[in-house]
Amino acid sequence: MAKKTKDLSSIPVGKLVPEEAELELTRLVEEIAAADKAYYANDKPQITDAEYDALRRRNLLIEKRFPKLKRPDSPSDKVGAAPSAKFEKAKHAVAMLSLDNAFHDEDVADFVKRVRKFLGLGDDEKVYFTAEPKIDGLSLNLRYEGGVLLVAATRGDGETGENVTANALTISDIPKRLKGAPDILEVRGEAYMSHDEFETLNARLEREAEEEGKAHEPFANPRNAAAGSLRQLDAAITASRPLHFFAYSWGEISEPLAETQWEAVARLKKLGFKINALTARCQSVEDMLAHYRGIEAQRARLGYDIDGVVYKIDRLDYQERLGFVSRAPRWAIAHKFPAEKATTVLEKIDIQVGRTGKLTPVARLKPVTVGGVVVENATLHNADEIERKDIREGDTVVIQRAGDVIPQVVEVIVGERKKGARKYKFPETCPVCGSHAVNEVNPATGKADVDRRCTGGLICNAQAVERLKHFVSRNAFDIEGLGTKQIEAFHEDGTIKEPADIFTMEKRQRAGKIDLYRYDVDDAGARKKDKNGKEKPPTNKKSVDNLFEAINARRAISLPRFINALGIRHVGETNARLFASHYGSFEAFYEAAKAARDDQSEAYQDMLSIDGIGALVAQGVVDFFDETHNRNAVDNLLKEVTPQEAEKASGDSPVAGKTVVFTGTLETMTREEAKARALALGAKVSGSVSGKTDYVVAGPGAGSKLKKAEELGVAVLTEEEWARLANR
Ligand code: IVH
Repeated sequence: MAKKTKDLSSIPVGKLVPEEAELELTRLVEEIAAADKAYYANDKPQITDAEYDALRRRNLLIEKRFPKLKRPDSPSDKVGAAPSAKFEKAKHAVAMLSLDNAFHDEDVADFVKRVRKFLGLGDDEKVYFTAEPKIDGLSLNLRYEGGVLLVAATRGDGETGENVTANALTISDIPKRLKGAPDILEVRGEAYMSHDEFETLNARLEREAEEEGKAHEPFANPRNAAAGSLRQLDAAITASRPLHFFAYSWGEISEPLAETQWEAVARLKKLGFKINALTARCQSVEDMLAHYRGIEAQRARLGYDIDGVVYKIDRLDYQERLGFVSRAPRWAIAHKFPAEKATTVLEKIDIQVGRTGKLTPVARLKPVTVGGVVVENATLHNADEIERKDIREGDTVVIQRAGDVIPQVVEVIVGERKKGARKYKFPETCPVCGSHAVNEVNPATGKADVDRRCTGGLICNAQAVERLKHFVSRNAFDIEGLGTKQIEAFHEDGTIKEPADIFTMEKRQRAGKIDLYRYDVDDAGARKKDKNGKEKPPTNKKSVDNLFEAINARRAISLPRFINALGIRHVGETNARLFASHYGSFEAFYEAAKAARDDQSEAYQDMLSIDGIGALVAQGVVDFFDETHNRNAVDNLLKEVTPQEAEKASGDSPVAGKTVVFTGTLETMTREEAKARALALGAKVSGSVSGKTDYVVAGPGAGSKLKKAEELGVAVLTEEEWARLANR
């Protein structure tokens, strides 16, 4: 008898009565299912993406208003895979890199000069650059195969991101299908939220939380709101959040998009992506800076956050030749807008002890909002900095924050200084262990370091804990569920004293030697207690098992991560990669480090021959392995964990793994370019000829290196012969 008398679809959700809502939910289930079928199974969408999004959103809103009426076959539960406890990982086919920053006009001029020099361009040769806003959002890689969106992933650590496909499918700016695209096409760009939508969302969340009587933390800024919305385990929530997407780059492609950046982005636009309208093609540094000023002048009126302008060399063959240095392209740079400033009171100076014993003074501030973020701490760098700016506790200070950079104290407003404020005295002992703190002498320069360091080594609890934190950090072992707070708690009670202990926890737990069930490991290692302060019985077996699983998953680890995790002075992610690709295996690195103690040894010379490794870094490696407790810790760790052999940059190139020395004048490219290319092919580039050299590439004017090669019987190639070998 329920005859359809009126069109319910035009009634706002807020005005529906329960009977109408029920009918609407039934209708929506059917319409959404039909649309899905037309889209996915029949390849013939019957409605537009926007109409589809509207159907889903209405369905979701009705369900929120009438939770009891939610149907068992609700489409909200069906977006993508079933909600899981965590996102799956997605390995990027082509790494997602970051950008180097420029802060001043001169940095931009230097960038252009550098690029011209690398390419060996004459003064009269024109180079074009694109200039476009740097969107302050969250970068995404969208992988299309055969024109269908298959995987959307966040940047993650650049190599591996999180698979957020189900969520990305709910963003209407992201085309789900492409016509006329290369068979494999990865489009990269930024997901972001507009200022208006951000305000509305925060207001809505607050209202909803109030209705449900829940506490509510608003999002601090549109970037956080975008990231928080995209990283929802329930894609239906993402669907209810207003997200947008600008495309500006690409990853893997089965055929080139165009010959220039400008045309490639135009092609993306044609394929249906939104591209930023404020993109220009510039001919000179003056043009670039003029466009920068133009964008800066409009910044406040754009309606979404940007934090600078990105310049990219236009010709894609030039981009290819320029390549990358560690994590950033040589062919692009981000020209940041000036940092935002605020005034507040510096209440106290605390000293933090880092993993290498460095004492870092930190300013504790009266909380203040700078650029949409509440700032409570600022770095003071070192004793010199405090002295130079004469910063005292209780002072009123100007602080600044640029993008994701740690806030800094710019200056003291001396006029507002309180009477009797005393000059700050930097401690001469470690605040954690009481050992002497000294300014070490740098072996490379013979000068005293500006940083003061605790001499306590591993007896200093702060250093031990910081090393462990570094060990599990994102670019090292990256163990899910084992973060800063857990490490602090486990170290404090003696469960984890050194890295190997992490991997023996499960065995010790099973043998009854430790009891992790006492911990609420989900919640920062804090022990669960009842109202009377008594420890609660274990309730978290599952989380402990998950932790063990996450730990076991890391028993095989890539070589660069392993080396980085050790926390060797001056060896971070970049140098760890250099060592990994030079030595290939941990054993080889370990042996070389031990043999390099003698700085006359071949092992030491070989280490210094690695492009990018200097005396200071080599000394850090030697010193590290010179310490018995470090060697013991490494040996213990190796009983539990197996570092994988390093992947060669391009294993199939005949020059991969070979050591090459360039000497004399090269004619078709600059020395810098030749070096960069060889490295990209997996070869090792050395500055000196030795028994380990495979090839010497000699151009006109080659002298002593050529002579040495001939003496040692090393193969000598002309530039042309090298090019043929490398490109075969
Ligand atoms: S190009 C090889 N263009 O900035 C690097 N990046 O700091 C290609 N970003 O990870 C990036 N707006 O998330 C590029 N117009 C733009 C951008 C942009 C924002 C982000 C991107 C990147 C980060 C680097």
